[in-house]
Amino acid sequence: MVGTPFSSGHPLADRRADFAATMAAGAAWVDAAEVMSSALELAPDWAAGWYQLGDYFESACDAEAAATAWRKAIELEPGDPFGAGLKIDLQRAVPVVETMPTAFVETLFDQYAPRFEASLVGKLDYTGPDVIMRALTEVGFERASSAIDLGCGTGLMGEALRERCDWLGGYDVSQEMLKQAARKGIYDFLGKQDLCALEVSDLRYDLIVAADVFIYVGALERVIGWAANSLAPRGQVAFTVERGEAPLELRESRRFAHSEEYVLGVLRNAGFKYITLTDCVLRKDRGVDVKAFCVVASMEPLVSRFDRDGGEVVAA
Ligand SMILES: C[S@@+](CC[C@H](N)C(=O)[O-])C[C@H]1O[C@@H](n2cnc3c(N)ncnc32)[C@H](O)[C@@H]1O
Repeated sequence: MVGTPFSSGHPLADRRADFAATMAAGAAWVDAAEVMSSALELAPDWAAGWYQLGDYFESACDAEAAATAWRKAIELEPGDPFGAGLKIDLQRAVPVVETMPTAFVETLFDQYAPRFEASLVGKLDYTGPDVIMRALTEVGFERASSAIDLGCGTGLMGEALRERCDWLGGYDVSQEMLKQAARKGIYDFLGKQDLCALEVSDLRYDLIVAADVFIYVGALERVIGWAANSLAPRGQVAFTVERGEAPLELRESRRFAHSEEYVLGVLRNAGFKYITLTDCVLRKDRGVDVKAFCVVASMEPLVSRFDRDGGEVVAA
């Protein structure tokens, strides 16, 4: 479970919550919900407890009680570090959430940071940085004088990119992920920043990358608009998204998938004219390949090679 440490601060409530967890481990969801409810009678302001109660009710197929418990968690912690709002939204026939609560992503990755690479690379066969580097190479990318890695995490994308850029920056919303990235010593700049709140500055980048990040961002209009206004002439954006059917789809995994049409529409509206899409498998989720696609886009022809006579070779 995502959130603050799983303790209410009330010893008896904690014991009841532990007992509820034991019942849940045996799939006795109704009993788990009942015992958890009794724990919350002792600790009614325990947001993480309400979130957990919602999960028990959900597993017990009591959607209404689950939503009530999740709403209570949000009432107590309006930043919604547990992602309770996403759970409520997933209950709707047509989800309406368009982005993740920042506090949820931050908490999720702060907790995940120490085991992120072992899990993603070691167990889930993550390919994001390789896929992006390959797609960039295919359109003729050779080097960037300045590149920014959006949602840089622990720096896996940065490691793949470092040798091919003179200056490399990284933004992430999770301080713990940033700490891991900093340890690698490969970034010239790292900053804690919510990508949904990026503002255009005087800085211009030859390359803007986002590997396996837009699945947490959801609606892409703002971040792609920012990228369009932050690229140097002939600059490129390169990113991955999970492939979906609907324009923007919130999945049970609490990650977003995007359709090809939606992504192309957002890019074209922002002024990108030269766009390549490459199908890929980004990683595994519960043993199943996650189908995705990688995008490289530019406003000018994707060029960067010169032929023997010094003429430009247009790659796309
Ligand atoms: C699956 S990890 C990928 C990390 C890295 N790009 C890589 O390829 O290993 C997603 C990262 O995006 C960050 N992230 C998600 N939503 C964000 C947001 N709105 N603003 C900033 N960072 C965000 C998370 O904190 C996390 O580090």
